[in-house]
Amino acid sequence: MAKIDQINSNFKGKDILSLDQFDNKSLQTLFSEASKMASLAKSASLPDTLKGTLTTLLFYEPSSRTFGSFSAAIKRLGGQTIDIQNPSQTSSVAKGESLSDTVKVFENYSDTLIIRHPEVGSAVKSAAAASIPVINAGDGAGEHPTQALLDLFTIHQRFGSLNNLTILIAGDIKNGRTVHSLLRGLILFDNVTVYLLSPESLKLSRVELEDLTKRGSKLIEITSEQEIPKDANVWYWTRVQKERFEDVSEYEKVKHSFVVTKKFLGTYGNDNLIIMHPLPRVGEIAEEVDSDHRAVYLTDEMRNGMYIRMALMSLVLGRV
Ligand code: NCD
Repeated sequence: MAKIDQINSNFKGKDILSLDQFDNKSLQTLFSEASKMASLAKSASLPDTLKGTLTTLLFYEPSSRTFGSFSAAIKRLGGQTIDIQNPSQTSSVAKGESLSDTVKVFENYSDTLIIRHPEVGSAVKSAAAASIPVINAGDGAGEHPTQALLDLFTIHQRFGSLNNLTILIAGDIKNGRTVHSLLRGLILFDNVTVYLLSPESLKLSRVELEDLTKRGSKLIEITSEQEIPKDANVWYWTRVQKERFEDVSEYEKVKHSFVVTKKFLGTYGNDNLIIMHPLPRVGEIAEEVDSDHRAVYLTDEMRNGMYIRMALMSLVLGRV
């Protein structure tokens, strides 16, 4: 197994596999770089920091946002990508090639490798096989660190800090990898209370709940909208992860347990919260909410994804 290095504010050459690699200071380093990228992008003066670098995007699971966001981030800084989507059907993987062989091949061509794969632990496995930095773009129901980094950046940008916040996370807490990474990031801040709203069957695994609680998370599990705290700063909604269900009828039963509509927001929300979602949404936030001043999922959150990935790639490739 690969060693999972702590970042300790030095990203150069490191794998990015889990939010557990980060401390508060490393997040601040990344956020300050991402803020620079945001202002350079606004003044149309982005540098070609990644010129001469080549990144392999190896995506075994469907993706448009994360794939597009990494690709845009790299190309806007002058870097290039080798794009492999769905290799299970389109490449030697279809002939039975192992994940580590595929990784070993592409490290000969590129400076970093970004991987999305349906198996928990696949990114760690890839990092063990590779001698170039590997970035986890989602390993099954495991983690999705870059999504959590952009989510934390979005919350930080809006509230000026990640301390003293009340966060509501709703939907598929059990299978949602963005949630698993976000919870690991929120541990790093003071006085953060997290409410986890889900149907019984989609609660966080007991092992993970215990682990995060031991490490200092204040997690409150709720199963009804009536229990949503009135003073929440963030509503983080998620999709029920259909692809993780063995029985589709079980998915059908829970898929729309909690749907944000204007009415729902009026009843359980407050005027100062922000509404986030990693996307794609499949009905758990009604389109009528998109124009609400609190909705950031199609705007700030998405743009920040590109800025955070620009910052991360520059730091990992030692171009800062
Ligand atoms: C998420 C993912 O793939 O985990 N999407 C994303 O990367 N933006 C969330 C999801 O698919 O529900």
